[in-house]
Amino acid sequence: MTTTTALDLADCQTLPLPDAGLSHGAIASVVGATTLVPLADGTTTTYANLDIAASAPALEAVAARIEQILPWYASVHRGAGYLSQVATSLYESARTIIAEFCGARSDDLTVIVRNTTDAVNLLATATPGDVLVLDVEHHANLLPWRTTEHQVTTVPAADTITETLSRLDEALQARSYALLAITGASNVTGEALPLSQVIDIAHRHGTRVLVDAAQLAPHRRFSIAELDIDYAVLSGHKLYAPYGAGVLVGRRDWLDQAPAYLAGGGAVSHVSNDDVSWQQGPARHEAGSPNVLGAVALATAAQVLTDIGDDRLQQHDQVLRTQLTDGLSKIDGVTIARIWQDSGEPVGVVTFEVADYEPGLVAMYLSAEHGIGVRDGKFCAHPLLRRIGLSDGAVRASIGLGTTSEHIDRLLVALQRLVTEGPREQYRVEGGAWVLANDRRPLPINLGLDELIATAAATCGQIRPPV
Ligand code: ALA
Repeated sequence: MTTTTALDLADCQTLPLPDAGLSHGAIASVVGATTLVPLADGTTTTYANLDIAASAPALEAVAARIEQILPWYASVHRGAGYLSQVATSLYESARTIIAEFCGARSDDLTVIVRNTTDAVNLLATATPGDVLVLDVEHHANLLPWRTTEHQVTTVPAADTITETLSRLDEALQARSYALLAITGASNVTGEALPLSQVIDIAHRHGTRVLVDAAQLAPHRRFSIAELDIDYAVLSGHKLYAPYGAGVLVGRRDWLDQAPAYLAGGGAVSHVSNDDVSWQQGPARHEAGSPNVLGAVALATAAQVLTDIGDDRLQQHDQVLRTQLTDGLSKIDGVTIARIWQDSGEPVGVVTFEVADYEPGLVAMYLSAEHGIGVRDGKFCAHPLLRRIGLSDGAVRASIGLGTTSEHIDRLLVALQRLVTEGPREQYRVEGGAWVLANDRRPLPINLGLDELIATAAATCGQIRPPV
């Protein structure tokens, strides 16, 4: 992005949201809800963040809690100092809150890691046998299984839930698997298999089940104990707590028998020059200084979601998702992606194509001309995208606690305008990505971005998004 003028976005951040006839508002306050972004025509607008599925903004309650505990920040599990003891209590009580949020059994372990990818990698080192997955998974739930000595079998999902469940049943019947790793909600379409049926099938064959709850947890409550889930994983940065923590929650036997995921201080009870005694429990896999701020942030978000309640969470999600899908279906040339013809109500994650427009161009147009953030590409789910005919990628809009009807309306109006009139501005492909030609949008001042970007451009040449 070229910077020509200075715009102090920070000065504008407390402006009220525009009154656009909101029929459905946010259900929790998120940081950045009133952040203004510059448009290609020189004006500004509030950011319509419809890329929540990638990274959700912090809840205001989370940011406030972090500010509150920072004066108490100190070493965890390592000090007799008063602050160390407070920090240790904060960390351990966060673990308990997160376990309760996931509906963990009393003897389950809750291991604090960095994110879902990290959690699945940890479980991969602990799984004592072969693994079965469907091809609908995010790479975080596909690739870690390929790094171990165990075999991973990938079953293509069928067009219907019923047939997909049969395929899973057949695969589990054909040979023995230690684990079935399955998404709780697709990061591409928001759809899911009925978890209770999947778990029932797997358990009948003596196979444990990991649920990737990264996209499920922000939209729906679930209970490990009630569903008889063996392991669940999720990420703080998708749960309004972007402070670098995620979790693996589940049965302790495999985790206690596994090699320490990270070797280092805190994971051991005794070390000599040629011998080590590793801890049991979460400490075995949490070497190094724990991320107390991340854990507390995640626990605070879990408490906010619990307070909101599943009914309100679902209602918010469904009202906005219906507004989005109804609107998209009325725009000529827009096609919504689905995995299954007979899936139930998906969570608020919607992927679509716009005929005659590359996904990267659509996303850049939405940003530059309408102040809307969406994700384009293949969403780290290449096998799924290929199978459902979206090898060249697509556009994804995702809904969260801070999403309003105005955001969805804005997206629909923008897409209708694109289809009928085309973009107003000029766009071109640069280094493999669509960019706004002659981009004069200023960067926010006071973030040091001009300098950082100049350095990055000098050292890396190009800042590229993942696909
Ligand atoms: N897993 C994130 C996504 O689907 C990054 O966008």
